[in-house]
Amino acid sequence: MNWPWPVWIAHRGGGLTAPENTLAALRAGARAGFRMVEFDVMLSADGMPVLMHDDTLERTTNGRGPVSAQDLAALRMLDAGAWQGSAYAGERIPTLDEALDLLCELDLDANIEIKPAPGFSALTGVTVAREVARRWPADRRPPLLSSFDEDALAAAAATAPALPRGLLFEQVPDDWARRMQGHRAVSVHCDHRLLDAARLQALIDAGVPVLCYTVNDATRARGLLAAGVRGLFTDRLDLPEAV
Ligand code: G3P
Ligand code: MG
Repeated sequence: MNWPWPVWIAHRGGGLTAPENTLAALRAGARAGFRMVEFDVMLSADGMPVLMHDDTLERTTNGRGPVSAQDLAALRMLDAGAWQGSAYAGERIPTLDEALDLLCELDLDANIEIKPAPGFSALTGVTVAREVARRWPADRRPPLLSSFDEDALAAAAATAPALPRGLLFEQVPDDWARRMQGHRAVSVHCDHRLLDAARLQALIDAGVPVLCYTVNDATRARGLLAAGVRGLFTDRLDLPEAV
C-alpha cells in the first residue's frame, strides 16, 4: 500500500531525551525534527486515558502501585519527570486529550499504542478509539493505532473502524496474514531483534508495511530501510542524522 507516515518515529514521545510518555517528550521529539511520535496509553481507575507504559507507577513517577488503581485526579498529582533530571521535575502524566492537542499544535503524526492494564483490554481499546475519533480534526492524517493486545485492537476497530490500525508483535507469528486480515490492519509492527530476513521478505512481498522497534543503531537502521522497512521507532533522536 501507499504508506503516508514518516519513516522516523520517536519512541515514547522523545526517546531517551526526555521523560517517556510526557508532553515534554513530544516536544523533544518535535524539536529534534521528528515528524512522528509513538506513545503508550492506559486507563486510570476512573476510565480516563493517560500516557503510560508500565502497569505500575514506580519506574516513571513518584507514585506507587498499579496505574489502574488510581483515578485521574490522583495520577495528576504525581511527578512523571523528576526521574529524568531536575529540569523535568513537575512534569505530569498527560491525558490522551492533552497529547492529541499537542500533536496538532506541533503538526506531528502519531502512533498511539493501546496498552491496557491487565483486565482492561476492551475498555481501553474502546476508550482510546472513541477519544481519538471524537477529538481528531478531520483534515489531519489520523493517528495510527496499534496494540500487542488483540482484544483491545478489535474493540478499537469496532468503535472507530475508520481509524487505521497496526498489529503489534514481539516476534511476527506464522499466521500473521490471517491475523492482519481479521483486524483489517494496515501494518505490522515488530521487534527488529526477533525479525529474520525471510519473514521480513515475506511481509514485504505481500505488500505489508513493516515498522520496527526499537532501533537505536545506525547500521541496523540502514539495513532495515534498505530491506524495505517503512518505519523505525527509535530512542535516539540523533539517529536519523547518523543514518
Ligand atoms: O509500539 C512500539 C513499541 O513501543 C512497543 O514496545 O514496550 O516500548 O511499548 P514498548
Ligand atoms: Mg510503545
